[in-house]
Amino acid sequence: MPDELHQPDIEDRPDWAAYYRHTLGREPRPLFVKGMAALEAAGIAPGQAVEIGYGDGTETLALLAAGWTVVAVDAAPQAAQVLRGRAEGAAHADRLEIRTESADVASLPPFDLLYAGYALSFIRPAAFRRFWRRVRSQLRPGGFLVVNVFGVRDTWAGDPDMTFVARDEVFRMVQGLEVVALDEEDQDGDSFSGPKHWHLFDVIARRPDAMSA
Ligand SMILES: C[S@@+](CC[C@H](N)C(=O)[O-])C[C@H]1O[C@@H](n2cnc3c(N)ncnc32)[C@H](O)[C@@H]1O
Repeated sequence: MPDELHQPDIEDRPDWAAYYRHTLGREPRPLFVKGMAALEAAGIAPGQAVEIGYGDGTETLALLAAGWTVVAVDAAPQAAQVLRGRAEGAAHADRLEIRTESADVASLPPFDLLYAGYALSFIRPAAFRRFWRRVRSQLRPGGFLVVNVFGVRDTWAGDPDMTFVARDEVFRMVQGLEVVALDEEDQDGDSFSGPKHWHLFDVIARRPDAMSA
């Protein structure tokens, strides 16, 4: 996991403005890059994308540049400030809709791609399953989910405001989908706050299209 994801202090975790200052200028996350390669390999043309928890907006801007129309959802107003500033004057800003709201109450359009990097676990457990049901219902035939979610052995597991999943729960989440990739990170790593255990599932999954369903 890249170092900039490790925040200086877990107590500062909701200080998203500081987090964005820290991550600004980074490359798109490896999961995003892998997801885009999977889409390309499947011959998926840019359509409607949704990004949840876009943070400093790096992946949203990459989606716009690649020709996607993007609904970008993040609960933190500071994220919208950063993304608006970065998207201003961009050639394709007219294909961007920024929503400042929690993912669990956001209405999602039917989409061809949902990307969420290091964000879904910040949805509260009471809302997570409802949110995921909506994700599944809005995923178009042939569309992709490219997401990661923290596992139950993560150091942060136990935070009542976050959702952590076991491996079998991940399989339930993608039931009925074609699993293109499912990678599990379950190891100690470095962080600014010292050693931490990272437990994370990277998932790329595709809804079968009407022809192959
Ligand atoms: C760890 S950051 C990841 C940001 C970015 N995706 C990245 O890879 O750097 C988590 C992001 O999720 C957002 N977030 C937290 N809870 C959320 C929620 N309930 N709904 C939508 N976004 C949320 C935060 O504001 C933050 O921008």
